[in-house]
Amino acid sequence: MNWIKALSQDELPANTRKVVKLEDKAILLLNHNQKIYAVENSCPHMKLPMRKGKITDDGAIVCPFHRSAFDLETGELKEWTPFPPGVGKLMGMISQQKPLAVFPTRVDEGNIWVGMES
Ligand code: FES
Repeated sequence: MNWIKALSQDELPANTRKVVKLEDKAILLLNHNQKIYAVENSCPHMKLPMRKGKITDDGAIVCPFHRSAFDLETGELKEWTPFPPGVGKLMGMISQQKPLAVFPTRVDEGNIWVGMES
């Protein structure tokens, strides 16, 4: 595991999010419920950006395009392309279901670090 300094803690206040580039990947950092999450800013469905995805009460991030939902902590798929109604399900049937890539984070000496496979 390679720990990479992503931001200073001050740059990601509570309930904000920011996209950073780490090792050629766009990583979406979220400060949500007093925890820092790092997920790939690329939906596994059509590689569209997750940046504006809503977070559900049960801790999933929902892609703003076809509303696939993924566990924020583990990236586990919760729902695949339910939107738009009917069309979304058809799109889902011709695409391979995949989890969202997530990365461990830690805060150390005022900085946010993201762990990436080396
Ligand atoms: S691009 Fe995210 S669900 Fe289609």
